[in-house]
Amino acid sequence: MPDFDFRQTAALPAQPLPIVSIGLGGIVHDAHYPAYRIAGFNVVGGFDIDSERAAMMRQKFGIPALYDSLAQAVAQAPENAVFDIAVPGGASADILRRIPRGRAALIQKPMGEDLAEARAILRICRQRQLTAAVNFQLRFAPFIIAARDMLSQGLLGELSDMEVRMQVNTPWHLWPFAAALPRVEILYHSIHYVDLARSFCGRPNGVYAKTMNHPASPNLRGGSRSMIILDYGDNPRVNITANHSHIFGAEKQESSLKFEGSKGAIQIRAGLNMNYPHGVPDRFEYVLPSKGQPPRWHSLDIAGSWFPEAFIGAMASLMRRVNGETDELPTSVEDAIETMATVEAAYQSSASGGTALPSV
Ligand SMILES: NC(=O)c1ccc[n+]([C@@H]2O[C@H](COP(=O)([O-])OP(=O)(O)OC[C@H]3O[C@@H](n4cnc5c(N)ncnc54)[C@H](O)[C@@H]3O)[C@@H](O)[C@H]2O)c1
Repeated sequence: MPDFDFRQTAALPAQPLPIVSIGLGGIVHDAHYPAYRIAGFNVVGGFDIDSERAAMMRQKFGIPALYDSLAQAVAQAPENAVFDIAVPGGASADILRRIPRGRAALIQKPMGEDLAEARAILRICRQRQLTAAVNFQLRFAPFIIAARDMLSQGLLGELSDMEVRMQVNTPWHLWPFAAALPRVEILYHSIHYVDLARSFCGRPNGVYAKTMNHPASPNLRGGSRSMIILDYGDNPRVNITANHSHIFGAEKQESSLKFEGSKGAIQIRAGLNMNYPHGVPDRFEYVLPSKGQPPRWHSLDIAGSWFPEAFIGAMASLMRRVNGETDELPTSVEDAIETMATVEAAYQSSASGGTALPSV
């Protein structure tokens, strides 16, 4: 195997900041808190409108303080706390309106239920001078940090093809709130890949998309399958396809992220989606052909996965920015709204339908 050294972990803050949780649901249980434990980040308190749920989370994770209301959470949070907001997308704006001026917030994706709400969130964050980021943590998954490092070391050459292919059986019942939503698949799932594509390829010129329901998910009206093409002109080709209703066993499930460049390629299996939220092992394979040699694929051992390690980087990047350790905030609300605009274009494209066939 070639002897390369690829970065796999996100930079950590020199001085972690205290965390106050708003919303203590499934994702906080499965990913936020396990990640913070690994990173040594301190949760000092939490609030959830469901007090039974909050009590269960306190018992399981030893949260030092539970607050009775958002007002109490805001009043008792330490001055330098990061508000870790993990509620359904439509509930984030009202919470942000009540965060004191000048504080820090990490907001779970999506940034509102549509672009109009994303604009409102951006406006609130600007008015209140919040240092705010959206939790697009896939960018910080160890396998993505490694892929980005390979690209930035120039090993893959120029990126020419990025493809995401999901053929999985997603347990939508874990998100009861999703049943009532007009937008689900792209807004709540494929948004991760749209955001990832933007982080590698920049702002697309346009979007072609189709999102649709599945007969086996009659209670989910906001789409459970999608095809999305991000148009970057001649190069790169970027394609996202997601079928969450593959009910034919684990054998043919796929959760694949592929990058091809002029000099090499990477194929990642993001095992999380194949038995969500427990996952199956990831796989990271790459090929860097030498002149005159047949291409040979290699495996790279990656420590950590999407759940929970990616959630370390999302929080760490915000803490580092608040601490003044960096000027960068990769998933700032100012950046994240571009992902929301791309998602909005995808829904518009889907609603406008394909090109009608000319008469013969
Ligand atoms: N990989 C990811 O990034 C990922 C994965 C799953 C979910 N999520 C996001 O996390 C958010 C929550 O998802 P979940 O799976 O935890 O859902 P969930 O339904 O399990 O939890 C949501 C929690 O928020 C609480 N809540 C709702 N409104 C509130 C409010 N105004 N104030 C305080 N608490 C409130 C609910 O009582 C519930 O406990 C969603 O926006 C979803 O998109 C992200």
